Amino acid sequence: MFSIDPDTFRHEVWPWLLSLSLLMATLLYVFRREDRRSVVLTLGFLVLGLFAMAALAAAKRAGISEGTGILHEAAIIQVGLVVIRLWGLVVFRLFLPMTKMHVPRILEDIIVMLGYAVWGLWRMREGGVELSHLVLTSTIITAVIGFSMQDTLGNLLSGLAVQLDDSIKIGQWIKIGDVSGKVIQVGWRSTLILNRNGETTVLPNSWLMKNGFQAIGQPLANGLEGWRRWVWFELNWNLPPLDVTGVLERAILDAQIQEIALEPPPQAVLMELKHGVARYALRYWLTNFMADDATDSRVRAHALAALRRHGMELTTENFNIATTKENERVEEIRAKREISRRLDMLGRVALFSGITAAEREQLAPHLRYAPFEAGDIMSREGAVAHWLYLIINGKVDIWRGYGTPGGVHLGTLGAGEFFGEMGMMTGAPRTATVVAGSRVECYRLDRDGFEAIISARPEIAEEISRVLAKRQAENVARNLAPVQGGAPAGEEMLVRIRKFFGV
Ligand code: CMP
Repeated sequence: MFSIDPDTFRHEVWPWLLSLSLLMATLLYVFRREDRRSVVLTLGFLVLGLFAMAALAAAKRAGISEGTGILHEAAIIQVGLVVIRLWGLVVFRLFLPMTKMHVPRILEDIIVMLGYAVWGLWRMREGGVELSHLVLTSTIITAVIGFSMQDTLGNLLSGLAVQLDDSIKIGQWIKIGDVSGKVIQVGWRSTLILNRNGETTVLPNSWLMKNGFQAIGQPLANGLEGWRRWVWFELNWNLPPLDVTGVLERAILDAQIQEIALEPPPQAVLMELKHGVARYALRYWLTNFMADDATDSRVRAHALAALRRHGMELTTENFNIATTKENERVEEIRAKREISRRLDMLGRVALFSGITAAEREQLAPHLRYAPFEAGDIMSREGAVAHWLYLIINGKVDIWRGYGTPGGVHLGTLGAGEFFGEMGMMTGAPRTATVVAGSRVECYRLDRDGFEAIISARPEIAEEISRVLAKRQAENVARNLAPVQGGAPAGEEMLVRIRKFFGV
C-alpha cells in the first residue's frame, strides 16, 4: 500500500510544494487581475503559517515543549489549507478557463472545501486522533447543523443543481413572470438577476427551483442568440389578411434594424378577429436582449409607416351603433382634407411649381401619400414599377449594387426633388436602389396621372428628361455596368422616351 511518511513528506516535499505554490501565486497575480485580492490574502496566510511553523520549531529546539507540538500541527494544517486554496484558484480560474471549461463557482468552492476536509482529517489521523470517534461526534453535529440550516442547505443544493444541469449560466437571460433580466451571479444562497432598469432581483435558489423560470434565447444562424418578440397591430378586418401580413413582414425586412435576425425571417400572423378588428402579431427574432422595448418600438414605427404607405390604417374595436350617416360625412371631410394636403405638397415640388391650380387639382387624385422610416428600401434595383416619387421631406440615398461589397453610392436627393423617372419614362426595371436616409415623406405619382400632366405640359417632360439625361451621364461617367434590362443610355434611351410620349 502506498503511504507517506509524514517526516519525509515534511522535509522533502514541502520545499517543492511551496516553491510551486509561489510560482502559481505569481501566475495568478499576473494573469487574473480580478483575483489579485484573494491571491494576496492567501499569500498573507501562507507567510503567517510558515512563520508560525518556523517559530514553533525554534521554540522546540530551545527546549520549550509545552503546547508547541499541537500548535506546530495547527500551523502545518493552516499552511496546507492555504496551498489547497492556491491550487484551487490556479486550477479553476487559470487552467480550466484556458481549456474553455468554466466550472461554476459553487462547484469550485465545494471541491476546495472537500480538499480542506481531507487534508485536515489526514493530518489529524497522522497526529494520532482516532477518526472513528470524530465520525460519531461529527454525525451528531451534522444532524444538528443540518436541521437548523434546512433552508440554507436547500438553497445551496438548488444552486448547485441549477448550475450543474446547465439550466442557468452567468450572462444568460431568464424570465420569471413578467420580469426578465440577465443572471449576474449564482451564489450559495441566491441568484442575482439584473433587469434593464438597473434593478437587481435577489432570488433564493430553492425558490427558483420550486417555482421554475424561463430561460430566454435560442441559438440562431451565425452563432447568434435570438428571442422571439411579438408586436401587436389592430387593423380593420375588411383588409385582405395576406396583404397585411406581407406588408408587415416586408416592412421589417426593409427596415434593416441591426438588433433583428433575418434568419429565421420576421413573420406576421392574423391572431384574432373580433368586433370588426383583426389582431395581427408581427413576430421577429431579437438578438440584443437588452434592447427589447427599443427594438419593439422601432418595429412599430417601421410597420406603421409601411401600413400607411399601403393605405392600411390602424383601427379600434367598433361596435355597430347606428352612426353610418355621420361616418360618411366624416369620410368626406377626411377625403377633402387629404386632397388639399396633396395640393399643398405639390406646390413644394420644384417640378410642378409652374402648373396652374386647375392642373394641380387634376393631378392630386393620382398621388398616393407614402411615408418611409430611415433605412427603409423605397425602391429596389431591378424591380419593375411605374411610380414617380416626389420627395416632400427627408433625404434619400441612391445606390447601385446596394448591400454588396462593390456597392456604389450614386447620390443623395432631398425635399422638392424626384426619383424613379427612369423606370417611369422607359418602362425598364429600376436602375438603382433607393434607401430612406431619414424619415421621408413623399408622394407617388402613378403613370396615368403622369401621362395626363405631361401631355398638358410638355415642358415638364422636358425638365424630367433633362434631369434623367444628367443622371444617366453621371452613371455612365462612373463606368457603371448597365442594369440587366435597365434603362439604356444615349440614343436608345431617347427612342424609348419618344415611344413613351408617342412621338
Ligand atoms: P429608376 O431607375 O426608375 O429607379 C432608381 C432611380 O434612382 C432612378 O430611376 C433615378 O431616379 C435615380 N437615380 C439613378 N441614378 C442617379 C444619380 N446618379 N443621381 C441621382 N439619382 C439617380
